[in-house]
Amino acid sequence: MKKTILVTGGAGYIGSITILELIRNTDFEIISVDNFLNSSSKTFQRIKKISGKEIINYQIDLRDLENLKEVFENHKIDGIIHFAALKSVPESVAKPHWYYDNNLNSQLNIMKCCELYYIKNLIFSSSCSVYGEVQNLPVDENTPLSEVKCPYAHTKKIGEEMLVFWANQSKVNTIALRYFNPVGADPSGLLGEDPRNTPTNLVPVITGSAIGNLPPVKVFGSDYPTRDGSCIRDYVHVNDIADAHIKALIYLFEKKNHELFDIINLGTGSGVTVLEMIHSFIKVTGEKLNYILAERREGDVAQIYSNPQKAKDLLNWVPKYDVNQMMETAWKWQIYLKNDL
Ligand code: NAD
Ligand code: WQD
Repeated sequence: MKKTILVTGGAGYIGSITILELIRNTDFEIISVDNFLNSSSKTFQRIKKISGKEIINYQIDLRDLENLKEVFENHKIDGIIHFAALKSVPESVAKPHWYYDNNLNSQLNIMKCCELYYIKNLIFSSSCSVYGEVQNLPVDENTPLSEVKCPYAHTKKIGEEMLVFWANQSKVNTIALRYFNPVGADPSGLLGEDPRNTPTNLVPVITGSAIGNLPPVKVFGSDYPTRDGSCIRDYVHVNDIADAHIKALIYLFEKKNHELFDIINLGTGSGVTVLEMIHSFIKVTGEKLNYILAERREGDVAQIYSNPQKAKDLLNWVPKYDVNQMMETAWKWQIYLKNDL
């Protein structure tokens, strides 16, 4: 029998690309829950345009347990990918209560529904931000977590901790995927990030600036102890991230996991500087980009990148896209989005 997957946050950046990859690569039925808190209702039209497939989305707040139960009454769900959360670092500093309420109560309701409806497979979106400031690079899953830098990261850290006890007690096979820096867009150029908030992450800032929506890019810090003085991060293409979710879900369905709760890093393993990202953008697009060297941004670490060996060993996941393709797809999407508002 066909399996049915519930994707929470299916209208969002990573959720929508994952739905598209699920359509392309599996025969799973897909249901979404998203209240468009930080996304556009056009997402599902875009998915249909690319794939021909109509996705059922329940426009409900995951904190509303009674409404959420209806989704589970209507569909026999085999596995859940729980993406839905608020994710802006500066916004979480400004409104911590909102972040704790939204992210943790949504997650608790998903956990509750797993128990009520006997769902045994769960993938949780975690983040490299749970590592905080690390001393030794690259970061693997055994790297000790240091103090988190913001309420957003704290919700992910608490979220993981809740899952440890709960997965073992409730016997729900659970994987927390810790993404490093997801970027880029679907290679079709027809689907990517379309948030309600003004972007603050590097790649949408670069493409937004190049297209004329945003001021010149500020490179936050040029005096870090790195090869060119700017910060180093582990950028990973969003379609590779989506692919890892599908692999993780199938891994659970095939009962290959030895632990009820496990954690897996998703990164390429390569650190790239801010200036290298900018130069890649200019090279692959041929566009002019104004940028200035600016002060360091509070809360930034000089460098962080992953050791992705565990994802390869357990899931056979190896990222396919390089930095130039990340920039190329992000730019293609930015151009499309300008005319699709
Ligand atoms: P996104 O904001 O694009 O998508 C999240 C979606 O969840 C949005 O469509 C939003 O409307 C929905 N949502 C939020 N709260 C909801 C609620 N209470 N009820 C129903 N829907 C709700 O974010 P994204 O980039 O796709 O991130 C997906 C997940 O991955 C998040 O959990 C995020 O914290 C995590 N993550 C993202 C990144 C990144 O850089 N994008 C990195 C690491 C981890
Ligand atoms: C990347 C680099 C900036 C904007 C965040 C979250 C993390 C995860 C991924 C969710 C940094 C520099 C940026 C700009 C710049 N998300 N930069 N000028 O901070 O590494 O990680 O997103 O879980 O939790 O913290 O990502 O894209 O904001 O920054 O120079 O205008 O680009 O200083 O070095 P970050 P980012």
